[in-house]
Amino acid sequence: MVESIHRSTRAQREQWIKEANYNVFKLRSEHVFIDLLTDSGTGAMSDRQWSEMMVGDESYAGASSYFKMKDTIKELFGFEYFLPTHQGRAAENVLFSALVKAGDVVPGNSHFDTTKGHIEFRKAKAVDCTIKEAFNTTIFHPFKGNLDLGKLEDVLKSYPQEKIPFIVVTITCNSSGGQPVSMENLRGVRQLADKYGIMVVFDSARFAENAYFIKTREAGYENKSIREIVLEMFSYADAMTMSSKKDAIVNMGGFIGLRDKELFDKAAVFNIMFEGYITYGGMSGRDMNALSQGLREGTEFDYLETRISQVAYLGTRLVEFGVPVQQPFGGHAVFVDARRFLPQLPKEQFQAQTLVVELYLEGGVRGVEIGALLADRDPETRENRFPALELLRLTIPRRVYTNNHMDYVATALANVYERSNTITSGLKIVHEAPIMRHFTVDLAKVV
Ligand code: F0G
Repeated sequence: MVESIHRSTRAQREQWIKEANYNVFKLRSEHVFIDLLTDSGTGAMSDRQWSEMMVGDESYAGASSYFKMKDTIKELFGFEYFLPTHQGRAAENVLFSALVKAGDVVPGNSHFDTTKGHIEFRKAKAVDCTIKEAFNTTIFHPFKGNLDLGKLEDVLKSYPQEKIPFIVVTITCNSSGGQPVSMENLRGVRQLADKYGIMVVFDSARFAENAYFIKTREAGYENKSIREIVLEMFSYADAMTMSSKKDAIVNMGGFIGLRDKELFDKAAVFNIMFEGYITYGGMSGRDMNALSQGLREGTEFDYLETRISQVAYLGTRLVEFGVPVQQPFGGHAVFVDARRFLPQLPKEQFQAQTLVVELYLEGGVRGVEIGALLADRDPETRENRFPALELLRLTIPRRVYTNNHMDYVATALANVYERSNTITSGLKIVHEAPIMRHFTVDLAKVV
């Protein structure tokens, strides 16, 4: 599907961003020229996906669309059981309702914000075990999503087994920059999980991009197909949560994949309460059809190569302009290091969010902050959490923009970089929600 985009003037954007209280989630989409807020649900569906929409089975129970999705999930991931949900965080809500209780500890690699939100909402704790290289944007490491197995084992050793419902591995790791986890690391996590009798759950939104990086970066996988790699990856997991809005290239949808019948039965009760009956779980039949087709297209090497090369194209252009970015580039986005971009601003003035606003003003490009606003407050002390990285994420929707658009984005950000020393003040919070504040926060300029 082709959609038109909208130009604007700097004066208009100044007005609009002020009305949005310097929060880009509050902008109207027609006030954005190039929208790199997220790759979630923003992709363009293919001719085959649209044709699948036409043959969706809208039966309440036992629809053929459900069985199509079940077969695809079994074939691609090896999971016998699955539950459809309306999106990824809904899958987390259902699965965590069955598994997480107050006082639990859930180790993982830089948990995504909704994952962490669903853990903390249940008065449990997320412990980040990502390797330290991930937090230095200047170090090249092919798998910056990896877990530090030493750190992980320390957590597994420090708490009784019944306090650790599972380990969550996010593939690719969004919060550390769309960075992949190696097969060797997934295997290592599995071995530790077996040693301590703990479950492993994959947060799988960008699993296919992760498989592409294994194929192109990890010895021994260069001649394997993406699908073979995906099957091996998931052989190390007991369950998966999926936001289908990413690598299944649909606008809405999610699911939980499971190996264990007992856990499936337990989670099914929550699915029926929160999402819908177990054979549709918040999705239309036509949407389940498009999702199954999208999973197949999303695991084709040629598609993945085109997509990830476009992300790298933008990254390379930015590097040519001297803009500091997380290296290597991620699978779904280029992450700009706002601390190195705006070192003169104190962290309390939200460097990455300030950069998001500056880029919008410069060229109507909407990126998103992955920094202190997103990191939120510590649930116990209520103090601001300042993460190791302050990032501006330029997230590329799938099959939407051309490299011409990427040139425009790179030039706009280079213009901001050239005048970066004139940006001498940032933003402050005027109003915030008690949890997941970044979506609705109101900000004002520091004067
Ligand atoms: N896990 C990861 C790694 C994600 O990136 C997301 C969403 C979710 C879970 C939640 O899925 O949105 O379908 O409920 N990430 C989007 C983003 C919102 O912009 O990165 P959801």
